[in-house]
Amino acid sequence: MAGEARIGKIAFGGVIALIGVVFVGVLVWTWLARNDLKPGPKAEEPSTPAVIHPVTIRTPAGIPRVATGEVDSQGQPVTIACATCHDTRQPNYETRSGTTLKDFHQGLHFAHGNQSCLSCHNATDYDTLKQADGRPLEFSQTLMLCAQCHGPQFRDYQNGSHGGMQGHWDLTRGGRTRNTCTDCHDPHHPAYPEVMPVFPPKMVRGETITPHGENHP
Ligand code: HEC
Ligand code: HEC
Ligand code: HEC
Ligand code: HEC
Repeated sequence: MAGEARIGKIAFGGVIALIGVVFVGVLVWTWLARNDLKPGPKAEEPSTPAVIHPVTIRTPAGIPRVATGEVDSQGQPVTIACATCHDTRQPNYETRSGTTLKDFHQGLHFAHGNQSCLSCHNATDYDTLKQADGRPLEFSQTLMLCAQCHGPQFRDYQNGSHGGMQGHWDLTRGGRTRNTCTDCHDPHHPAYPEVMPVFPPKMVRGETITPHGENHP
């Protein structure tokens, strides 16, 4: 009999303890989960609305000009617009390489598929580029020229995984600057130079490498 009473007491005590633990647990959980119970500013109602800083995409310099090699009376180099010559020249759709250029632009290095120069340059106005649907495009908008033929890279660029950036991830803290395609790729020979992997620098005696690769003396 005495043994049974003891077991009964232990069981009763256990149930009480369990209820106590659950009760305290609920209190703690409520405290952690409900912001409005905590002192200080409330997360739901920021005192000032967050300012979203702009993302700036660098634009190319604009319409290229050709240097004549002469200087004016002010000593400034004389340059002429593309249209100066091309307005009166018959456009040549067959030019697909720099090596066939004999009369002008000699030495232009071109390696960008088997495209005609005039798949990008606008045959009716050489001071502009041309989109696939024939509409003119300003030189400052070169990114959109590249985007129409390189969809996957343009998508990656928009997602931030191609083309790099400087500034802030969190736009509430500051702005961000993005490169344009031609900051890195020459439109006439866009391939990136091959990079040769080399051996890492030699270890100084006593140096170790952590799993993260940082060297510590
Ligand atoms: C001094 C005159 C002159 C100027 C300025 C000039 N070009 Fe040309 N361009 C030529 C000549 C001449 C050819 C043809 C060369 C050949 O086929 O041997 C040519 C060819 C080209 C072609 C190949 C297609 C075609 O119609 O023959 C392109 C594209 C081109 N020029 C773009 C430009 C751009 C862009 C500019 C401005 C940065 C420019 N040119 C400025 C004289 C000029
Ligand atoms: C894939 C598009 C594309 C093709 C194809 C192309 N160009 Fe261009 N070209 C450009 C762009 C974009 C610029 C402006 C470059 C810049 O802003 O620095 C340019 C600039 C030029 C210029 C002036 C600046 C310079 O680099 O001398 C000349 C001249 C020129 N192109 C001639 C040609 C000729 C000739 C061909 C054909 C052999 C050709 N381009 C093919 C996109 C193209
Ligand atoms: C009219 C279509 C067209 C336009 C516009 C165009 N490209 Fe291309 N691009 C191509 C084609 C086609 C190839 C494949 C060439 C090959 O495989 O030989 C290519 C290849 C490339 C490559 C890979 C080169 C290599 O050899 O691996 C790069 C990088 C590139 N383009 C960048 C650009 C940039 C930057 C612009 C804008 C200035 C641009 N492209 C505009 C059609 C285009
Ligand atoms: C910060 C420099 C940078 C900018 C800006 C940039 N690229 Fe690239 N791009 C690269 C590098 C580096 C590679 C070579 C990647 C490799 O070899 O794996 C590359 C490769 C490419 C290729 C070849 C295919 C590939 O994925 O290897 C294409 C096409 C291309 N870029 C198009 C574009 C276009 C279109 C834009 C603009 C929307 C752009 N790039 C902007 C650096 C840049």
